[in-house]
This record gives sequence, C-alpha cells and structure tokens, in this order.
Amino acid sequence: MANLLSSTFVFCLFYICSASPPNFVLFFADDLGFGDLGCYGHPSSLTPHLDRLAAGGLRFTDFYCTSPVCSPSRASLLTGRYQTRSGVFPGVFYPGSIGGLPLNETTIAEVLKPLGYATATVGKWHLGYGANGKFLPTKQGFDQYLGIPYSHDQGPCHNLTCFPPDIKCFGLCDIGVVTVPLVHNDNIKQQPVNFLDLERAYIDFATDFIITSAKNKQPFFLYYPSHHTHYPQYAGTGAAGRSLRGPFGDALFEFDSTIGNLMATLEKVGVINNTLIFFTADNGPELMRMSRGGNSGPLKCGKGTTYEGGMREPAIAYWQGVIEPGVTHELASTLDIFPTIANLAGAKLPPVILDGFDMTNLLLRKGKSQREAMMFYPTDPNEKSGLFALRWGKYKAHFYTRGATHSATTPDPDCPGIAVLKAHNPPLIFDLEADPSERYPLPLEERPDIQAVLAQIEKVKAQFEATMVFGESQISKGVNPNLEPCCSPECSPKPSCCHC
Ligand SMILES: *[C@@H]1O[C@H](CO)[C@@H](O)[C@H](O)[C@H]1NC(C)=O
Ligand SMILES: *[C@@H]1O[C@H](CO)[C@@H](O)[C@H](O)[C@H]1NC(C)=O
Ligand SMILES: *[C@@H]1O[C@H](CO)[C@@H](O)[C@H](O)[C@H]1NC(C)=O
Repeated sequence: MANLLSSTFVFCLFYICSASPPNFVLFFADDLGFGDLGCYGHPSSLTPHLDRLAAGGLRFTDFYCTSPVCSPSRASLLTGRYQTRSGVFPGVFYPGSIGGLPLNETTIAEVLKPLGYATATVGKWHLGYGANGKFLPTKQGFDQYLGIPYSHDQGPCHNLTCFPPDIKCFGLCDIGVVTVPLVHNDNIKQQPVNFLDLERAYIDFATDFIITSAKNKQPFFLYYPSHHTHYPQYAGTGAAGRSLRGPFGDALFEFDSTIGNLMATLEKVGVINNTLIFFTADNGPELMRMSRGGNSGPLKCGKGTTYEGGMREPAIAYWQGVIEPGVTHELASTLDIFPTIANLAGAKLPPVILDGFDMTNLLLRKGKSQREAMMFYPTDPNEKSGLFALRWGKYKAHFYTRGATHSATTPDPDCPGIAVLKAHNPPLIFDLEADPSERYPLPLEERPDIQAVLAQIEKVKAQFEATMVFGESQISKGVNPNLEPCCSPECSPKPSCCHC
C-alpha cells in the first residue's frame, strides 16, 4: 500500500514536487574533529568530495553530537533522544556486552518502514550485539546490514594488516577478546575482518542497495556510519599513501572517496535530485593518538570531554536543487536529524519524548533553527550531578569540567585524564561566538547582563532536567564473554579459535 502510494501520487514539500518521497543518505564519521576536513580549514587533509558537498550544500558551524563517545552518540542520532533516556551509558558497548539499544526505542529506520522505505546500514553499528545478535540493526528497522557491529579496535589488531602491502595495524587494540568480525545481516562472514578490502565491500553493498531501490522505485534510507577515522587507521590500495597527512589522512580520504563514489551512483541512477545527503560525526577527535588522531581545530580538547572539541562536529546537508548552498551558524544537533527526516518523508513520530527539532525550515528556507539550547552529558551521566554543561544561544555554561584519557597529549592541562572532575559554582560561562576556544570565562561581578544569562541558563537547565527520566543503564549490565561474536561457535579455545 505504501509503495503504491509513493509511486502513484506526486509528493510535494513546500514548492518542490517529485514522483516519490525523498531518499536519505546519512554519513556518520567516527572520532572526526571539527578541524579535520579541508572545508573546515585543515591545511593538509584530502577531502575533495566532502569539500564539494560543502560547497554545494549547507555547512554548519554550530552542530553538536550528544556525547563525546561512540555508543551514546549513535543512540541519540537514531532515536532523536538524549542517550540518558534510552540508557546507552556509561561509556560504550563491548563485544560481549549483555545490553544494547533497547528494542522498544524507535529508530529513524523504524519510522520510515511503514511508508514503504527500503532501509540499509553499512559500517560501525556499536549499539549492541547481544545474545544471538538480538541488538543488531536488522532488529531496529534496517532491512540489511553489512559491517563490524562495534569499534574496529575492540579486538586484537596487532597482527592484522591496516595498509598495503602488509603494514600491520599500529598498536595492539583490545586484547583478550575475539578478533573483529564482518557481519552480514545476522551472520558472521569473516573473522578477523580484512581491512584492506573492507571499504570496497561497503561500497559494493551500498551501491547495490541504491541501484536496487531506485530500480524498484522504492524510496530509501541508507545509514553509513564509517569506521573512519577511529583508531587504528587503515586504508586499502586506492587511498593508502594518497594524502599529505599520513595514516589519518589516508583513512579520511578513503571515506571521502566512498562518499564521492556513492554520490556518483545517486547521480547515475537518477535520484540525486530527490536525495537528502547528510554528513556529520559521532564525537570529537581522539587526541591521545597524536598525529595519528583527529584535530579539533580552534576548539578546546576532544573526545571524552564536554568541551567544544568533544562534541562540536563538522556537518553538511546537501540536496541538489533544494538546499541552497551556504554556511549556517544556527544551533543544531544530531538529535534534530530524526524529526527532520520524519517530516520530510511524512512519517509519524513515535509517542515518546523527543529531544530533536525539525530542521526543515533551516535546510530548505534558510530559516531559523528551533533549537535554543544544547545539553552536554559526560560519558558517565548520572541523575544526581546531571548536565556537565549547557549551551544557550551563544553562551555555554560549564557546571562540571573534566579531562579524558582520549584527549591526552595536547599542551592544554584541562584536556587529559589527570584533569580530575571539578565542580564550578558559579559555572564557567563562555561566549562561544567571541571565544569558541573556551579560553576566557566571562566575569559575573558587575555584569548584570551576564548574571541574567546565567539565570536564564539555570532556568533552562532546571526545566530540561525536570523532564529527564534516565533509562536503565544498558552498558552497566556488563559483559559475558560467551556473547562475543564467534564465527565458529563451538570451537575451542576461545577467543583465538574464532577465525574463519
Ligand atoms: C522500554 O521498556 C522499558 C522496560 O519496560 C521501559 O522502562 C522504557 O520506558 C521503554 N521505553 C520506551 C521508549 O518505550
Ligand atoms: C601475533 O602473531 C604472532 C606469531 O603468529 C604470535 O606469536 C603473537 O602472539 C600474535 N600477537 C597477537 C597480539 O595476537
Ligand atoms: C537534476 O536536476 C538538474 C537541474 O534541474 C538537471 O540538470 C539534472 O539532469 C537532474 N539530474 C538527475 C539525475 O535527474
């Protein structure tokens, strides 16, 4: 019925009419900093396709993810809700994690399915695996999945090849667990994964999905959370050695090339004018990797922290002929992608508290963002201490600050893990437009204007926290080594025998 609808009737949004509802392609980079793309000012990154996307689309300067680490950030992206609601905290899921993104949470894919959309995801899931793969994407509204279901460093990588011809991965990654598997839908295809061929396999899978959907005249949603540019960096023959920036630059270029490749496919099959492409990333750069990690540009610290470098991300919205090219300083978040896609598709929102705002006006009519505030939770949120920081308009107040191991090695003493938790009363307040690097806290004394800002921020915080009910922590359910994905389930001794 839904299929019939979409192919029979003309679908109109504002002044734009087309034969079918729009397609959505959502690219999500990993541990990518605000300063890592050419179009965000990096001098030696090689990102020609993202730069072209930015030049022809809307580039955001004030776009936030919801957590400075992977799993919670992904939970928010796919549900339009802060991770505290779904219980995806503290930290991230492990290969043997018992929990996952609760199945009763509604994902973007799940709101699109009833409208007849084809849905697929490729790459890093990291929202749980669980007993018999019960938390895999196929259980959360995706028809198809190909990828590593968590971070590609969550398995020993010491003896794996990360660059051609046979350059071993840098570092050990996580030892004492199974090597990382490649999962197709619910089945393990390969273990350990072959990093040199991985991007090719992903491109083939995504290309096939786009071509098949277009051929069937079926609207589609492709969610492409890449492993790039998370540690350890890797790249196949097409990208290795191509950038001026070393391993990180080559890994980033590999993802950039994939984006170019899939754009060309969208064009070739004739759906580019009816497809919203959105690019952003899960959290800030892992500065502890030094020159092998990302760069937060002018922003303070990186991954693991609630400073700007941990959570402000590059973001680009591209829709040929529909989104007018430009740069926006409006406040927006990964939370807003869910309601925006739902509105553009004409989907029904789930009957739950959503934290996202529809960005349709901002994207299509250069309108204002409906978002006035952004909440910053640490990697280990709890109801008692609540928010670490809150941005309201151009001001950001820090109630707590803390460094993170992920952000070690820069000269800034506030970034590394040894910068222990500090409560700020009154909070530290910054004007992020005048001072995006959070260097110069605003004085409250003899500044009634800043005192009024603080009073407003306190009010917004109290109102928000009054509606925030923490879900049961999924990650605190712990791990069971028997749940680690193993391609040869009955083999012994584990984990080393899981090799196919
Ligand atoms: C999902 O189920 C849990 C456990 O019953 C419940 O606490 C939670 O509120 C539910 N979440 C949603 C989004 O319905
Ligand atoms: C790497 O391979 C060598 C030789 O096969 C083996 O001795 C070593 O334990 C392996 N290291 C890891 C971290 O798997
Ligand atoms: C997209 O729209 C442009 C401008 O109207 C047109 O030139 C182009 O052929 C269209 N592309 C496809 C693939 O339909």
